Amino acid sequence: MPADTANPFTGTTVGISVENVNKSYGNVNVLRDISLDVKPGEIFCIMGPSGSGKTVLLKQIVGLEKPTSGRVLIDNFDASDPETRTKVHLAFVFQAGALFNSLSVYDNLALYPREHRLGDENSIRERVRHALSILSLEKAADKMPSELSGGMKKRVAIARALVMEPQLLVYDEPTAELDPILSATISEIIATLREQIAVTSLVVTHDRALALGIADRIAIIMDGRIRTISTAQELKHNTEPIITDFMNPVIDPKNPRFRKLEPNNE
Ligand SMILES: Nc1ncnc2c1ncn2[C@@H]1O[C@H](COP(=O)(O)OP(=O)(O)O)[C@@H](O)[C@H]1O
Ligand SMILES: [Mg+2]
Repeated sequence: MPADTANPFTGTTVGISVENVNKSYGNVNVLRDISLDVKPGEIFCIMGPSGSGKTVLLKQIVGLEKPTSGRVLIDNFDASDPETRTKVHLAFVFQAGALFNSLSVYDNLALYPREHRLGDENSIRERVRHALSILSLEKAADKMPSELSGGMKKRVAIARALVMEPQLLVYDEPTAELDPILSATISEIIATLREQIAVTSLVVTHDRALALGIADRIAIIMDGRIRTISTAQELKHNTEPIITDFMNPVIDPKNPRFRKLEPNNE
C-alpha cells in the first residue's frame, strides 16, 4: 500500500463501511442487506450483471441517495449526511459525456475550483496543470471536448475529478464504450493513480479484464445481493457455477441460457 504522504492533493485516504444496506424504490427491493468494507488506499471493484444494483449501491455510498435501512460510513462519517461532503473529499468520474462542450479542457478542469473559490487563479492553474500532467494531457489544455477522442475524454474526466482533491475516487463503468486497448489504458491509469496520489478507488464495472487486472478485492453483486467478496486470484479459482458463468460465460447457440431479457429491456 503506498504511503499516504504521497498525496500532494490531500495527504490522507479514507475507508468505506457499508453496513446492512437495503434500498427499495416503492415496493421494489433493489439492494438486499449489502455489507462491505473498503480499506483506505484500496482499489475495490464492484462487478455484477447489468441491472444488479451496482449504480444504486454507488449512489448510497457517495450520498446521492439514502438507504432505506442500514448505513454507509466514509471515514466514520455517515455518507447520507450533507456535512460529510465537507469533511471527506470524494469525486465521481462520470462518463465522457459529462464534460462541458462549450469549455476548453483547461476551463472544464478549473470550473469546480473557481466555483468553490478554492484559491486564486494562480493556485487553480497549478492544481489544473498538476492534474493534466498526471494524465499526460498537458498538450490538450486548450482543446475543446469535441476535438478529443473517446479515450482522451475519459482521461479528461479523470483529471477533472483529481482537481477536486479526492480522498476517494468513484468510477462508474470507466471503460464502457472503449476498445480493449483504451480500456487497458484506463486500467493502468486507475492503478498508477493510487501510486501517485494515494487515493481510495471504488470502481463499478462489468469489465472483467479491468477488475481482475487492478482490483485488490472484487465484490460480485447479483439481484442486489453480494455473492462473493474476494481477491482476483480467489475469484479465478472460484468454482461456484453462478460465479463461473458470470466470469466466463460460454455461449452455446444450441443450448441458449442467456436469452432471457432483462425487465428493463422488455
Ligand atoms: N430511481 C429508481 N427508481 C426505481 N427503480 C430504480 C431506480 N434506480 C434504479 N432502479 C432499478 O434498480 C435496478 C438496479 O439498477 P442499477 O443499479 O442502475 O443497475 P446496474 O447494476 O446496471 O448499475 C434496476 O432494475 C433499476 O431499474
Ligand atoms: Mg450502472
